[in-house]
Amino acid sequence: MDGVTLLSDYKPYPFEIEHISMTFRLAPEATVVRAELKLAPRAGRADLHLDGEELTLREISLGGVPLAPEAYALTRTGLTIPAEHLPEGPFVLATEVVIAPAKNTALEGLYMSNGMYCTQCEAEGFRKITFYPDRPDVMARFHVRIESDLPVLLSNGNPVAQGPGFAEWDDPWPKPAYLFALVAGDLRATSGQFTTASGRRVDLNIWVRPGDETRCDFALASLQRAMKWDEEAYGREYDLDLFNIVAVDDFNMGAMENKGLNIFNSKLVLASPETATDTDYERIEAVIAHEYFHNWTGNRITCRDWFQLCLKEGLTVYRDQSFTRDVRLGALKRIDDVAALRARQFREDAGPLAHPPRPSSYKEINNFYTTTVYEKGAEVVGMLARLLGPEGYRAALDLYFERHDGQACTIEDWITVFEDASGRDLSQFKLWYMQAGTPRLRVAERFEDSTYTLEFEQETPPTPGEAEKPPRHIPIAVGLLGPNGDELRPTEMLEMTQARQSFAFEGLPARPVPSILRGFSAPVLLERATPPAEQAFLLAHDTDPFNRWEAGRSLARETLMAMAEGGAPAPDYLEAVGQMLADEGADPGFRAACLRLPGEDEIAAAIASKGVAADPDAIHAARRTLMETLAQKHEAAFVAAYEGAAVLGPYSPDAGPAGKRSLRLATLAFLATRDGGARAQALFDAAQNMTESLGALSVLVAEGGAAAALARFAARWGAEPLVMDKWRSVQAVLTPPEAAAGLVARLAADPGFEWKNPNRFRSLLGGFAANHAGFHRADGAGYALYADWLIRLDPLNPQTAARMSTAFETWRRYDAARQAHAKAALERIAATPGLSRDLAEMVGRLAG
Ligand code: PHE
Ligand code: ZN
Repeated sequence: MDGVTLLSDYKPYPFEIEHISMTFRLAPEATVVRAELKLAPRAGRADLHLDGEELTLREISLGGVPLAPEAYALTRTGLTIPAEHLPEGPFVLATEVVIAPAKNTALEGLYMSNGMYCTQCEAEGFRKITFYPDRPDVMARFHVRIESDLPVLLSNGNPVAQGPGFAEWDDPWPKPAYLFALVAGDLRATSGQFTTASGRRVDLNIWVRPGDETRCDFALASLQRAMKWDEEAYGREYDLDLFNIVAVDDFNMGAMENKGLNIFNSKLVLASPETATDTDYERIEAVIAHEYFHNWTGNRITCRDWFQLCLKEGLTVYRDQSFTRDVRLGALKRIDDVAALRARQFREDAGPLAHPPRPSSYKEINNFYTTTVYEKGAEVVGMLARLLGPEGYRAALDLYFERHDGQACTIEDWITVFEDASGRDLSQFKLWYMQAGTPRLRVAERFEDSTYTLEFEQETPPTPGEAEKPPRHIPIAVGLLGPNGDELRPTEMLEMTQARQSFAFEGLPARPVPSILRGFSAPVLLERATPPAEQAFLLAHDTDPFNRWEAGRSLARETLMAMAEGGAPAPDYLEAVGQMLADEGADPGFRAACLRLPGEDEIAAAIASKGVAADPDAIHAARRTLMETLAQKHEAAFVAAYEGAAVLGPYSPDAGPAGKRSLRLATLAFLATRDGGARAQALFDAAQNMTESLGALSVLVAEGGAAAALARFAARWGAEPLVMDKWRSVQAVLTPPEAAAGLVARLAADPGFEWKNPNRFRSLLGGFAANHAGFHRADGAGYALYADWLIRLDPLNPQTAARMSTAFETWRRYDAARQAHAKAALERIAATPGLSRDLAEMVGRLAG
């Protein structure tokens, strides 16, 4: 028992649900939900079990006849009707329950946000709305009637009737309950259209609270771009006449792909130049696309059970990343995605929460919406695409849609499609889905008789519950460069399948410089003792932009590691930065990415992976010193780059101007160590858009001289919660470490801080966890403060509390005293009476 769900226990549901008809009579404290299920046994007789939690049952009838109390059993988690009380053929079961959306602070099921009703059903929220088999392999057609005086009443599918006080919706596509959605409120639409490739006219609406409709144009345009892209890149058309998006202020995650009625965290919809940064715009475009793409990868083809979550999420992340690469700057997007993967997923994979993209057991499924399922899942799809090539990948996806449309599938189904489409055996490749851990790839090289040989060795360190790690199938993209930077051999995809394997390149006039793992062709840690001069050469000459960036990144990382341990910066690195600054031919966004130093967490991870305890204060100081050293050495070049990157004219979130702004802000941070923040103050005073305003403010906060600017910012934006989240977050992340915990405690104590809203909570506490040396303070005050807040949030919103506990996943990297403080904080959480299953599972794994 002990509440564990196992993949190996999967059994098909013994009934089919042909149809469900629901009626909602909305009221904040007592919403009445009637549900009529048309059921049919699939094979033989079986007990009928329906999930249901926190429901007050008022009526239950079978075939129109009230069910006697002895004919069913009610528990805390559901309702069971034994087989002997069921007819042999199809039957109709009707229930009426009462729920209280106004009291729902967990934001799962039906809840209220700023006066509007909305739902969140993934993964297991539908069971808080009515009695139903709440599992993704039960797909049914839904009819929904909503009764309420609110002006806008929405559900999935098409509107079929409406009048004063009610609306009815019908969804022709069978779907699992987790894709159900209902919204009711005083909402305003920003509307548009899209005509599909086959000529179907689709109405598009972005619904928001009155006053916000001026900030929806970008979301609407993003949706239209995504719809077009999915037709061109995947041959996928939209399948209803209507597509609605609703923005809500209280939401645990980013957004949700409910059929025909996506529900979004308002921060991922609302954008204006004054209130949203370039990064926000890019993220909005990507998430709108992501949720839209789910219509085929997730909704039309869904998951058999929640262990298969990465079937829809890994694939859909891969699709949204590809979309952004196509509509923006491909090379830069790949760099950003890899940097994020390493910062989050490699971190998860190296700690106590490591798990495979397809896990085989869980206690609380909400704890498995992780960066491993999403981002590593996307990398695994990317490797399949690289192994098959563009045409092979497209053929496999065509087969996937043709074979599995309308089904609830598994990773096995997915792999089989790739095998059938390509004729290849992918049984070894499948390990990527089944096993946790980041493989380490070591490289040795030889040059003899015009033959250059690369010898690779792979090894994956053990992860919780997985001691044995057989070799993986790893695609390694390699190109060879000549001494003058010419490409001697274009990119070739080597396929490594053994623990140790050599690849020879013949007929070379001289020893080449290898460019290995181009485009980050596999999610592995490349361990190669590359001389700094060679890395500087690659930074200057590699024809693969990702590896150019990578060369600079590893130079910077190694320099910072050495400095944190008392060494001096590598001269090759200092020189290379000067060249990059002066390289006006390179794209500004790319130059900015190359200039940005690795974060403190990344340096700590690199130090700890050598078996040395990381010292957060030394790392913080090293990073600061390196910024000062670089700024001093190249001051004139930084000034020139800063001034050359000024963007004139009206704001546009496009990649071109956004890249210039990012170069301007990257250089500003270095210059602030020379001019005492004068340029940052000037930029803050003159800023016409949020990107520059917030960028300048960040620099001032990091310099410790932002009081006046922070006050002005708050005075201007005090009434805009999403903007004030940035104000809070910038301070929590960037306030110098010794002052951070005190500052966070002060901001949290402000009576205006609405900590029950997940965006507010994350802005402050999530920001604090990203303040590396502030959170990992030697005296443990950071951990204690953070634990206090998790304990406070947990009874109201377990899902968000559990997600945020991942701040503790790296505690073993640090010295014994810090470890003891972190462990004490985790134990204190674990000992809290009434702890949720969500947070209990997390702290158990974290401490284990
Ligand atoms: N399925 C959503 C997505 O990735 C994420 C989500 C999961 C949202 C669970 C809410 C709850 O697109
Ligand atoms: Zn998703």
